[in-house]
Amino acid sequence: MANLIRLTYVSKATFDCSLGEGSVGSDELVQEVQDILAEARKNNQKSQVSGALFFGEGYFFQCLEGKPSLVLPLVEKIKTDPRHEGFKISYQKAVPRRYFSGWSMKYVPVTPDVINLMKSRGYPEFDPVNFHESDINEMFEMFTKVDDTSLLNERLREYSSIIKPWWQRFGELFLPRTRQI
Ligand SMILES: Cc1cc2nc3c(=O)[nH]c(=O)nc-3n(C[C@H](O)[C@H](O)[C@H](O)COP(=O)(O)O)c2cc1C
Repeated sequence: MANLIRLTYVSKATFDCSLGEGSVGSDELVQEVQDILAEARKNNQKSQVSGALFFGEGYFFQCLEGKPSLVLPLVEKIKTDPRHEGFKISYQKAVPRRYFSGWSMKYVPVTPDVINLMKSRGYPEFDPVNFHESDINEMFEMFTKVDDTSLLNERLREYSSIIKPWWQRFGELFLPRTRQI
């Protein structure tokens, strides 16, 4: 059996996500979360760590899978990240296989579909602090099938930068930068 562990934790974002972004049902992705995903994907790919990150109602709920010698030091690093607080490990165990193999970090927004899945498990809302271990595994397994909207966000951003009107591009390239107020 491969020497693999799965660790899941819950934490609360320290940045402001009160504008509707990152709230249940919202497809918009807060810039801070997009930055965390980019960092995680770059690093995890190198160390063959896989996993998923949920973000909703200001809570992070992350699953990390891989070799213990790589996952455990990573968790120590993530724990001290000032972008979140109230870090609490939900569970940590040796596992025979990965749920998120092929995903250096899958992003799962807390959409109404996800909420419905949770309701069917007896949770009236997205409240990862109180999830039971037995439900967490089942939920993660189901969430392997949910679409990753952050990839769509990234593509939309790339696309909008390609189709930016020429006068905006001209301004950016040739006009002196003015102070934004
Ligand atoms: C909620 C949350 C989840 C994170 N997940 C990861 C992760 O899976 N992998 C990772 O390398 N960094 C992750 N980070 C970022 C780390 O805390 C840290 O900023 C990053 O690993 C530093 O990378 P560096 O050593 O290349 O500077 C996460 C941060 C937060 C707040």
